[in-house]
Formats: sequence, structure tokens, C-alpha cells
Amino acid sequence: MLTQRLKDSNPLHTLLVAVFLSIALLTQVAPAQSTSPMHTVVIHADKKIGTINPNIYGHFAEHLGHCIEEGIWVGPESEIHNVRGIRTDVVETLKKIKPPVIRWPGGCFADSYHWQDGIGPRENRPKRVNVHWGRVIENNHFGTHEFIDFCRQVGAEPMIAANVGSGTPQEMRDWLEYLNVSSDSTLANLRANNGHPEPFNVRYICIGNENWGCGGSMDPIHYALLYRQFSEYCHFPPKEGFYRIACGPSSADYDWTRGFFKTMVGEETKGRNRLGRVEAFDMHYYTGGKAYGTATEYTTDEWYGLLAKGLGLEEIALKHWEIMGQYDPGHSVKLAVCEWGAWHHVIPGTNPRFLRQQNTMRDALLAALTLNIFNRHCDKIGMANIAQTINVLQCMILTKGAEMITTPTYHVFEMYVPHQGAEALQCDVTTTQIPFTDKGDTPNKLPHVAASCSQNDDILTITVVNTHAGESATIEVDLLGVSKADFKSWRTLKASDIHAHNTFENPEAVRPTEVSGTASLMRAFVLPPASVNVLTYSIKQ
Ligand code: AHR
Repeated sequence: MLTQRLKDSNPLHTLLVAVFLSIALLTQVAPAQSTSPMHTVVIHADKKIGTINPNIYGHFAEHLGHCIEEGIWVGPESEIHNVRGIRTDVVETLKKIKPPVIRWPGGCFADSYHWQDGIGPRENRPKRVNVHWGRVIENNHFGTHEFIDFCRQVGAEPMIAANVGSGTPQEMRDWLEYLNVSSDSTLANLRANNGHPEPFNVRYICIGNENWGCGGSMDPIHYALLYRQFSEYCHFPPKEGFYRIACGPSSADYDWTRGFFKTMVGEETKGRNRLGRVEAFDMHYYTGGKAYGTATEYTTDEWYGLLAKGLGLEEIALKHWEIMGQYDPGHSVKLAVCEWGAWHHVIPGTNPRFLRQQNTMRDALLAALTLNIFNRHCDKIGMANIAQTINVLQCMILTKGAEMITTPTYHVFEMYVPHQGAEALQCDVTTTQIPFTDKGDTPNKLPHVAASCSQNDDILTITVVNTHAGESATIEVDLLGVSKADFKSWRTLKASDIHAHNTFENPEAVRPTEVSGTASLMRAFVLPPASVNVLTYSIKQ
């Protein structure tokens, strides 16, 4: 029986650890030499944090570069295999990572977008200049119907971002009527004439995007007053009700959070408390910049620097959460992170406004560390969308004409699927800190091991990251609050080179592998350097 915690002082424990470690070393495929001390991952099966909202694994597709045009949409006449204009290879690949929700049409694009441009016969749709992303001509062939068709094909819920910056409450209200009304209204009939008699039942709506910047250069009070106004016209909810998402801060802009919340509760204007109209508050957090090299060329210090910056999201999110709690003590408003991920230099020779970048093992670890944070704080975080799905920023898929490859980040999303909708368990990691030089001159540290854990019925899933660029990490897994635990599987995403990535010439350079030869009681593992690992157990409590 493995019911009790195996304490350090217990000689039986020492013996068991030695046995488990030997098993791990004997059974690990191509074991790396372990020179590091033991790290512990203690799972508390009796301490549930909450349900991991699948929407934490959400995506984001903007009219930017080749995310939609060529990435998702090729048009029904294309020689690339498609269903109603939507690429089949992309749909089939995305389905495997179970995208729960997709955010569209932006991003910055959203606050310049007028939904009426994207309905009706495609040949009649107006051509507009995409002012944010390269001033290219947007033909609006991918509009509301095409987006929702794409979502339904991949099995995701649609999430729309309404135009607050240059739009009106009337325009947003009409879009919602067009989307969700089933009766004989003119807009519902227009939708039916355009090929969809049934309402779309869209639930997720961002009221604006980055309204402190490209969404209107507003201050938080101005935006909150507009939010109060726009949310008044959020009619026509589907039967589950709307999930309304307010524009939150860029990274650590705590003044934005304070300003928004105090205006929403009425403190600023002595008006009524309208916080009940906000389900989530959307902070954006990007990781990148000159200090971390390029997408594919970076030093070991830049490897650590980027990962440390990514981990910084946790402290910042908690600080916002604390401020939100000052105005919303019951925390009825959840935190959302509707844009996150790595922002690198574009691939040389590509349009700088198309934000097309490569994606390496470093990005895979960044994704894994971030998703672990979201899992561990699933009681606070209700929605997150990596930027962006295809061909833009930290994408899942890169396309080139008819060709398509998946990125290391895609594989992390696939490996983490078991967490979606599972119960997050408290997971305490004891690890060492890796010292490194940040931004060329600043001493900094990064945890060697980070993890999160969830339970779905009798399956326990632990996702563990070894951040060390060159050393393996020997971990001991300690399962508390379980009466029986059988080890099931270990999958790892690793590469001998920290710069490894997939290319059109070598699309399988980075992909997860099963570590075979496992014993039923495995508790100790030698994690390869720079790796993302998924361990599963079958448990009884
Ligand atoms: O994801 C790219 C851009 O980053 C989005 O359009 C905007 O919201 C953010 O600044």
C-alpha cells in the first residue's frame, strides 16, 4: 500500500526511492547521465484546486499575415484540399489538440472590423485596408459564417471580439442578434438567407481588445465607462448565458486594473455597480524581445532568460488577482489571458508585419511552463488563448502553400490534453535554482523543475518540465492521499539541441516519444535536459 507519505526520515522510504530510481534508470530509454540532486514532486490527491476549465487551452486566430489567409482559409476553389474553403489538413491536425475555444477576428484587427463586411456573397464583400498588419487588402472572404464553420469543424466554441475602438454599441448589438436570434427578425432572416437558419449560439464575447493601445488609446476609466455602455446592449445570450470578457491590462499595468474595477463598481462615478456584467478580465502577456536572441538563435543564458520571463506571468497574474479582489471580494470575475506566448523576430525575408516566426524547443518549454501555471491557478483563470493558431507568433502550425508542419508548441498542447476539464491537484515541487545572467548583465535564477497535476476519474496526469539546458533532472514523485497507484505511461518531448525545431525539410525533428519499459510502481524518473514530460498513473483513493 502506498497510502502514507513516505517521509525523508523513513529508512523504508530511502530504500524504496533507491529501488524506484534503479527501475527508472534501468527502464529509461537512452538515459542521460544524472549529475543533479533529487527534485521532489509531491502530489496531494486530497487537495483539489478546482476544475481546469478546458478554455485555458484556447486559441486565437486574427486577420494577420497568413493566420487566416492561407493558414485556415484557402477558398472553395483552391487546389489545396478543403471543406467549404477551410483547409482539411489544418482542421484534422487541430482536432487532435481539442481546441476548446478560438478567439477571432483580433487582436488589433477587431477594433477596426465591421462584421457586416464579412457576410453575404463573397464576391460582393468590401475590400478594406488592414491598417494594423501590413496595410494589405482584406477581402473579407473569411467572415462570421466561415469562422463559425471553422470552429465547428475543429470542435471549438467561437469567441468573438467586438469592435469598441471604432464601432458602436448598436453595431455590436446587431452582430449578437445576427448570431443568436432564432425568431423572425430581419437580422435572423438575413443570417438564414446567408445559409444558416439555425442561430449560431455564440457565448464568448470580448468587449474590445487592448483598448489601452490599438483598441482606442483609452485610459482605464474611459474604457470602463464604454464597457458599462456596451454591456448594456449585450442582448440575445445563448441559453448558457454570455461569457463577457473585458479588456484587461498589458502585463504588469496594475493602474489599468484598479481604474477599470473602481469604475465598474461605481466608485469613480458614484454610479451603480456593474461588475455583474463581467465574467472575465483579459490580461495580455507576451514573452520576447531583443534580450532573448532570435527565434532560433540564442545562447544558454537567453534560453533561461526567456523561460524566466515566461514564468513571471504567475506573479503578475496574482498581483492583478489581488487588486481585483479589493473590488470583487467574492471573485465573481475570473482572470483571462486571451493573448499569451513568445514574440520573436520574424523569419528573415518575411513581411515584418506578418509576425511569422519559427518555434523551437524553447517555445515548447515556455508553453509547458505557462500551461502549468494556468493549471495550478485554475481557480482564478477561466480562459487563455495562445497567440496565434497558424503562421503567426507562437503558432501550432506553419504552412507553406499546400505543405504543413506542426511546431514543438503544438506537441505540448497535444501532450497536455488530459488536463482539459480535469481536477487540478495541489502539486508541490522542491527543486534547485539554476543561476544565469539575464539581459547580458543581471544575475537571475530559474527553477530547474516545474510541474502541475490533475485527476480525471482514476487517471492522474503530471506534467513536468526540466528547464536545464544541459543537465537531466532526477525527480521523485510522491503521491499523497491515494491508496493505490499504478504507473501507466511517460511521454517526453526532448531534443539533443536546445534550438531544435521542425522544418518543411525535417518536419518530425521534434515530436514526443513514449518512454517504454516501465514498471508499475515507478516513482523516480531521470528527465532529459530541456524536456517536457507527461507522467500518468491509474489511482485509487
Ligand atoms: O497577437 C498580435 C497582436 O498583439 C494583437 O493583434 C494585439 O492584440 C496584440 O498587441
